[in-house]
Amino acid sequence: MSEEREVSRRRFFRWGATAAAVVGVMGHAAAWTRSLVANVRYEPPKRRTLGAPDQFPKGRTFLSDEKLFIVRDKLGLRALSAVCSHLGCTVGTSKAGYHCPCHGSRFAADGANLEGPAPRPLVWYALSIAGSGALIVDLGKEVAADTALELPRRGS
Ligand code: FES
Repeated sequence: MSEEREVSRRRFFRWGATAAAVVGVMGHAAAWTRSLVANVRYEPPKRRTLGAPDQFPKGRTFLSDEKLFIVRDKLGLRALSAVCSHLGCTVGTSKAGYHCPCHGSRFAADGANLEGPAPRPLVWYALSIAGSGALIVDLGKEVAADTALELPRRGS
């Protein structure tokens, strides 16, 4: 009887030690797997609030923080990247379009690359209006040059 009881006790401790080891290994595996996923994203959000649409007059408005031109013309409002497609310098405006001060690339008013080493046109981004009425640019969504945000006419 005593030997039987001893065996049962030994079995109990063996089972308990095995269960504790399995739980420990699974805990470490879960912690290791979780360590592969970043807690924080360091890249800025792609959708940015630019302010009230009324603050962008007819013509081109440069937003230095966003490196964007907001273009208001007969099509509506459009957002053009000011980042040169060559090596990323910030382009400036010229009479007919845009120019890059770094290596002399020139771009047409629609962003098409005309001269210089820039291999691609400037990028147009999607604009939308938030529920609050603020203008939103989505830097993750490229659109065609003639894609404009039409604003409702005042008084209608
Ligand atoms: S960075 Fe604009 S032309 Fe080189």
